[in-house]
Amino acid sequence: MTTAVLPKIRELKPGFGAEVLGVDVAHADNDTIDGVVATFHKHGAVVLRDQKMTPPDLLRFISRFGEPEIHTLVENCLPGFPNIYVLSNRIVDGKPIGAHNDGIGWHTDMSYQAEPVMMTMLYAVEVPAEGSDTLLADCVAAWNALPPERQAQLRNLKLHHSWEHFMRTREYNRQEDLDPKLLAQNPDVIHPLVREHPADGRLALWPSTGTVKEVVGMPNPQGLELLDELIDFVTQDQFVYRHKWRAGDLLMWDNRCTLHTGTLYDDKKYIREMHRLWVKGDRPY
Ligand code: SIN
Repeated sequence: MTTAVLPKIRELKPGFGAEVLGVDVAHADNDTIDGVVATFHKHGAVVLRDQKMTPPDLLRFISRFGEPEIHTLVENCLPGFPNIYVLSNRIVDGKPIGAHNDGIGWHTDMSYQAEPVMMTMLYAVEVPAEGSDTLLADCVAAWNALPPERQAQLRNLKLHHSWEHFMRTREYNRQEDLDPKLLAQNPDVIHPLVREHPADGRLALWPSTGTVKEVVGMPNPQGLELLDELIDFVTQDQFVYRHKWRAGDLLMWDNRCTLHTGTLYDDKKYIREMHRLWVKGDRPY
Protein backbone atom coordinates (compact mmCIF):
# COMPACT_ATOMS: atom_id res chain seq x y z
CA MET A 1 0.00 0.00 0.00
CA THR A 2 1.48 3.37 -1.04
CA THR A 3 0.47 6.97 -0.39
CA ALA A 4 1.12 9.46 -3.17
CA VAL A 5 3.54 12.22 -2.21
CA LEU A 6 2.54 15.23 -4.29
CA PRO A 7 5.68 16.79 -5.75
CA LYS A 8 6.56 20.48 -6.03
CA ILE A 9 5.38 21.77 -9.39
CA ARG A 10 5.43 24.80 -11.64
CA GLU A 11 2.51 25.20 -14.06
CA LEU A 12 3.46 25.11 -17.76
CA LYS A 13 0.58 27.46 -18.57
CA PRO A 14 -2.07 28.84 -16.23
CA GLY A 15 -4.40 25.87 -15.62
CA PHE A 16 -2.53 23.44 -17.86
CA GLY A 17 0.48 21.16 -17.50
CA ALA A 18 3.05 20.95 -14.72
CA GLU A 19 6.81 20.82 -14.48
CA VAL A 20 7.61 18.45 -11.62
CA LEU A 21 10.59 19.69 -9.63
CA GLY A 22 13.17 17.78 -7.63
CA VAL A 23 12.29 14.21 -8.66
CA ASP A 24 14.93 11.79 -9.98
CA VAL A 25 12.56 9.33 -11.65
CA ALA A 26 15.01 6.43 -12.04
CA HIS A 27 15.70 6.39 -8.28
CA ALA A 28 12.44 7.67 -6.78
CA ASP A 29 10.38 5.56 -4.34
CA ASN A 30 6.84 4.36 -5.12
CA ASP A 31 5.09 7.13 -3.16
CA THR A 32 6.96 9.80 -5.11
CA ILE A 33 6.15 8.16 -8.46
CA ASP A 34 2.49 7.88 -7.41
CA GLY A 35 2.62 11.64 -6.84
CA VAL A 36 3.94 12.20 -10.36
CA VAL A 37 1.14 9.99 -11.75
CA ALA A 38 -1.48 11.97 -9.78
CA THR A 39 0.03 15.24 -11.04
CA PHE A 40 -0.19 13.97 -14.62
CA HIS A 41 -3.88 13.09 -14.26
CA LYS A 42 -4.68 16.45 -12.71
CA HIS A 43 -2.73 18.70 -15.10
CA GLY A 44 -2.95 16.88 -18.47
CA ALA A 45 0.80 17.12 -19.15
CA VAL A 46 4.00 16.77 -17.13
CA VAL A 47 7.66 17.69 -17.72
CA LEU A 48 10.61 16.37 -15.71
CA ARG A 49 14.03 17.78 -16.55
CA ASP A 50 17.56 16.40 -16.07
CA GLN A 51 16.59 12.72 -15.99
CA LYS A 52 18.90 9.78 -16.71
CA MET A 53 16.69 6.95 -17.93
CA THR A 54 17.81 3.61 -19.32
CA PRO A 55 15.27 1.70 -21.46
CA PRO A 56 14.30 -0.54 -18.46
CA ASP A 57 13.87 2.64 -16.31
CA LEU A 58 11.53 4.07 -18.96
CA LEU A 59 9.50 0.87 -19.05
CA ARG A 60 9.25 0.67 -15.28
CA PHE A 61 8.12 4.30 -15.09
CA ILE A 62 5.53 4.13 -17.86
CA SER A 63 4.04 0.96 -16.37
CA ARG A 64 2.96 3.01 -13.34
CA PHE A 65 0.53 4.88 -15.63
CA GLY A 66 -0.99 1.79 -17.24
CA GLU A 67 -0.18 -0.96 -19.70
CA PRO A 68 2.47 0.07 -22.27
CA GLU A 69 1.36 -0.16 -25.91
CA ILE A 70 3.36 -2.26 -28.36
CA HIS A 71 4.33 -0.50 -31.60
CA THR A 72 3.36 -2.02 -34.93
CA LEU A 73 6.45 -0.82 -36.84
CA VAL A 74 9.00 -2.93 -34.96
CA GLU A 75 11.81 -1.80 -37.24
CA ASN A 76 11.69 1.61 -35.51
CA CYS A 77 11.82 0.21 -31.97
CA LEU A 78 14.88 -0.12 -29.77
CA PRO A 79 16.24 -3.64 -30.30
CA GLY A 80 14.70 -5.86 -27.61
CA PHE A 81 12.17 -3.17 -26.54
CA PRO A 82 8.95 -3.36 -28.61
CA ASN A 83 7.38 -0.72 -26.34
CA ILE A 84 10.07 1.89 -27.04
CA TYR A 85 9.85 3.61 -30.41
CA VAL A 86 12.79 5.67 -31.66
CA LEU A 87 12.26 9.05 -33.31
CA SER A 88 15.50 10.05 -34.99
CA ASN A 89 17.35 11.17 -38.10
CA ARG A 90 20.43 9.18 -37.03
CA ILE A 91 21.75 6.64 -39.55
CA VAL A 92 23.85 3.72 -38.31
CA ASP A 93 25.55 1.37 -40.80
CA GLY A 94 23.53 2.97 -43.60
CA LYS A 95 20.19 2.33 -41.85
CA PRO A 96 17.90 4.79 -40.00
CA ILE A 97 17.63 3.84 -36.31
CA GLY A 98 14.06 5.19 -36.06
CA ALA A 99 11.32 7.25 -37.68
CA HIS A 100 12.17 10.78 -38.79
CA ASN A 101 9.63 13.66 -38.72
CA ASP A 102 7.00 11.25 -37.46
CA GLY A 103 4.74 13.62 -35.53
CA ILE A 104 4.55 16.75 -37.69
CA GLY A 105 1.02 18.19 -37.82
CA TRP A 106 -1.51 18.68 -35.00
CA HIS A 107 -2.90 15.35 -33.85
CA THR A 108 -3.76 13.05 -30.99
CA ASP A 109 -1.92 9.71 -31.03
CA MET A 110 -3.42 6.60 -32.62
CA SER A 111 -6.78 8.31 -33.21
CA TYR A 112 -7.33 5.78 -36.00
CA GLN A 113 -7.77 3.03 -33.41
CA ALA A 114 -10.97 2.14 -31.57
CA GLU A 115 -9.09 2.61 -28.29
CA PRO A 116 -6.43 5.27 -28.90
CA VAL A 117 -3.48 5.48 -26.54
CA MET A 118 -4.13 7.36 -23.31
CA MET A 119 -0.67 8.75 -22.75
CA THR A 120 2.44 9.57 -24.80
CA MET A 121 5.86 9.93 -23.19
CA LEU A 122 8.95 11.31 -24.91
CA TYR A 123 12.44 11.03 -23.47
CA ALA A 124 15.12 13.23 -25.04
CA VAL A 125 18.38 11.34 -25.61
CA GLU A 126 19.92 13.92 -27.97
CA VAL A 127 18.34 17.13 -29.22
CA PRO A 128 19.21 19.90 -31.68
CA ALA A 129 20.41 23.22 -30.25
CA GLU A 130 17.51 24.88 -32.07
CA GLY A 131 14.19 23.73 -33.55
CA SER A 132 12.32 20.46 -32.95
CA ASP A 133 10.12 21.93 -30.20
CA THR A 134 7.05 19.88 -29.28
CA LEU A 135 3.80 21.85 -28.93
CA LEU A 136 0.87 20.78 -26.77
CA ALA A 137 -2.63 22.27 -27.03
CA ASP A 138 -5.03 22.25 -24.10
CA CYS A 139 -8.30 21.00 -25.65
CA VAL A 140 -10.28 21.49 -22.42
CA ALA A 141 -9.45 25.20 -22.25
CA ALA A 142 -10.35 25.48 -25.95
CA TRP A 143 -13.74 23.85 -25.40
CA ASN A 144 -14.45 26.03 -22.36
CA ALA A 145 -13.62 29.16 -24.37
CA LEU A 146 -16.36 28.48 -26.94
CA PRO A 147 -19.67 30.32 -26.54
CA PRO A 148 -22.53 28.02 -25.41
CA GLU A 149 -24.36 28.26 -28.76
CA ARG A 150 -21.21 27.06 -30.64
CA GLN A 151 -20.75 24.29 -28.07
CA ALA A 152 -24.33 23.17 -28.72
CA GLN A 153 -23.69 23.02 -32.51
CA LEU A 154 -20.53 20.93 -32.06
CA ARG A 155 -21.43 18.77 -29.07
CA ASN A 156 -22.74 15.71 -30.93
CA LEU A 157 -20.60 15.76 -34.07
CA LYS A 158 -18.56 12.69 -34.92
CA LEU A 159 -15.37 12.23 -36.91
CA HIS A 160 -14.47 9.42 -39.28
CA HIS A 161 -10.81 8.44 -38.65
CA SER A 162 -8.87 6.20 -40.99
CA TRP A 163 -5.39 4.69 -40.74
CA GLU A 164 -5.42 4.00 -44.47
CA HIS A 165 -6.27 7.64 -45.26
CA PHE A 166 -3.56 8.78 -42.83
CA MET A 167 -0.84 6.57 -44.33
CA ARG A 168 -1.70 7.47 -47.94
CA THR A 169 -1.99 11.24 -47.41
CA ARG A 170 0.48 12.20 -44.64
CA GLU A 171 3.13 14.74 -45.56
CA TYR A 172 6.09 12.79 -44.15
CA ASN A 173 6.59 9.01 -44.28
CA ARG A 174 3.69 8.58 -46.72
CA GLN A 175 3.10 4.99 -47.90
CA GLU A 176 1.04 4.02 -50.94
CA ASP A 177 1.72 0.33 -50.70
CA LEU A 178 0.08 -0.76 -47.46
CA ASP A 179 0.51 -4.16 -45.89
CA PRO A 180 -2.90 -5.93 -46.15
CA LYS A 181 -2.36 -7.39 -42.66
CA LEU A 182 -1.94 -3.89 -41.17
CA LEU A 183 -4.95 -2.65 -43.16
CA ALA A 184 -7.07 -5.46 -41.71
CA GLN A 185 -5.78 -4.68 -38.21
CA ASN A 186 -6.66 -0.99 -38.53
CA PRO A 187 -10.25 -0.63 -39.81
CA ASP A 188 -11.79 2.87 -39.92
CA VAL A 189 -13.36 4.15 -36.69
CA ILE A 190 -15.80 6.87 -35.64
CA HIS A 191 -14.94 9.04 -32.62
CA PRO A 192 -16.72 11.99 -31.02
CA LEU A 193 -15.49 15.51 -31.80
CA VAL A 194 -16.05 16.44 -28.17
CA ARG A 195 -14.51 13.95 -25.76
CA GLU A 196 -15.41 13.44 -22.12
CA HIS A 197 -12.55 12.71 -19.74
CA PRO A 198 -13.29 9.48 -17.85
CA ALA A 199 -11.57 10.75 -14.67
CA ASP A 200 -13.80 13.76 -13.99
CA GLY A 201 -16.12 14.39 -16.94
CA ARG A 202 -14.28 17.45 -18.27
CA LEU A 203 -14.95 18.01 -21.96
CA ALA A 204 -12.28 18.49 -24.61
CA LEU A 205 -12.60 19.74 -28.17
CA TRP A 206 -10.87 16.80 -29.83
CA PRO A 207 -10.27 17.16 -33.59
CA SER A 208 -7.10 15.80 -35.25
CA THR A 209 -5.36 16.20 -38.58
CA GLY A 210 -4.10 13.33 -40.70
CA THR A 211 -6.48 10.56 -39.70
CA VAL A 212 -9.79 12.39 -40.20
CA LYS A 213 -11.46 11.66 -43.52
CA GLU A 214 -14.75 13.42 -42.89
CA VAL A 215 -17.12 14.87 -40.34
CA VAL A 216 -19.92 12.30 -40.21
CA GLY A 217 -23.02 13.54 -42.07
CA MET A 218 -21.28 16.61 -43.54
CA PRO A 219 -20.10 16.43 -47.15
CA ASN A 220 -16.56 17.51 -48.04
CA PRO A 221 -15.16 20.08 -48.52
CA GLN A 222 -17.49 21.60 -45.88
CA GLY A 223 -16.60 18.95 -43.29
CA LEU A 224 -12.84 19.28 -43.71
CA GLU A 225 -13.16 23.09 -43.69
CA LEU A 226 -14.89 22.82 -40.32
CA LEU A 227 -12.08 20.56 -39.12
CA ASP A 228 -9.45 23.12 -40.22
CA GLU A 229 -11.37 25.88 -38.46
CA LEU A 230 -11.48 23.86 -35.23
CA ILE A 231 -7.79 22.93 -35.39
CA ASP A 232 -6.95 26.64 -35.87
CA PHE A 233 -9.10 27.46 -32.87
CA VAL A 234 -7.62 24.82 -30.51
CA THR A 235 -4.04 25.63 -31.48
CA GLN A 236 -4.13 29.37 -30.82
CA ASP A 237 -1.19 30.56 -28.71
CA GLN A 238 -3.42 31.06 -25.68
CA PHE A 239 -4.05 27.27 -25.48
CA VAL A 240 -0.56 26.07 -26.48
CA TYR A 241 2.52 25.13 -24.44
CA ARG A 242 5.77 25.03 -26.44
CA HIS A 243 8.37 22.60 -25.08
CA LYS A 244 11.96 23.53 -25.84
CA TRP A 245 13.98 20.37 -25.47
CA ARG A 246 17.08 19.66 -23.45
CA ALA A 247 18.72 16.22 -23.35
CA GLY A 248 17.36 14.36 -20.30
CA ASP A 249 13.84 15.84 -20.55
CA LEU A 250 10.83 13.62 -20.04
CA LEU A 251 7.59 15.05 -21.42
CA MET A 252 4.27 13.24 -21.19
CA TRP A 253 0.76 14.24 -22.13
CA ASP A 254 -2.78 12.94 -21.86
CA ASN A 255 -4.06 12.30 -25.39
CA ARG A 256 -7.67 12.41 -24.15
CA CYS A 257 -7.53 16.17 -23.60
CA THR A 258 -4.64 17.49 -25.71
CA LEU A 259 -3.39 17.76 -29.29
CA HIS A 260 0.30 17.91 -30.09
CA THR A 261 2.70 18.45 -32.95
CA GLY A 262 6.41 18.06 -33.51
CA THR A 263 8.27 20.80 -35.39
CA LEU A 264 11.06 20.65 -37.96
CA TYR A 265 14.77 21.24 -37.38
CA ASP A 266 17.92 21.41 -39.46
CA ASP A 267 18.44 17.68 -39.86
CA LYS A 268 21.63 18.13 -41.88
CA LYS A 269 23.24 19.98 -39.00
CA TYR A 270 21.76 18.30 -35.91
CA ILE A 271 20.91 14.86 -34.59
CA ARG A 272 17.69 14.28 -32.70
CA GLU A 273 17.03 11.05 -30.83
CA MET A 274 13.91 10.61 -28.75
CA HIS A 275 12.46 7.49 -27.13
CA ARG A 276 8.68 7.37 -27.30
CA LEU A 277 6.40 5.20 -25.19
CA TRP A 278 2.62 4.92 -25.10
CA VAL A 279 0.09 3.75 -22.52
CA LYS A 280 -3.00 1.92 -23.75
CA GLY A 281 -6.28 3.83 -23.65
CA ASP A 282 -10.00 3.20 -23.86
CA ARG A 283 -12.91 3.96 -26.17
CA PRO A 284 -13.60 7.72 -26.45
CA TYR A 285 -17.13 8.92 -25.62
C1 SIN B 1 4.85 12.65 -31.69
O1 SIN B 1 3.96 13.20 -32.32
O2 SIN B 1 4.62 11.60 -31.07
C2 SIN B 1 6.26 13.19 -31.66
C3 SIN B 1 6.38 14.66 -31.50
C4 SIN B 1 7.82 15.10 -31.58
O3 SIN B 1 8.66 14.36 -32.11
O4 SIN B 1 8.12 16.21 -31.13
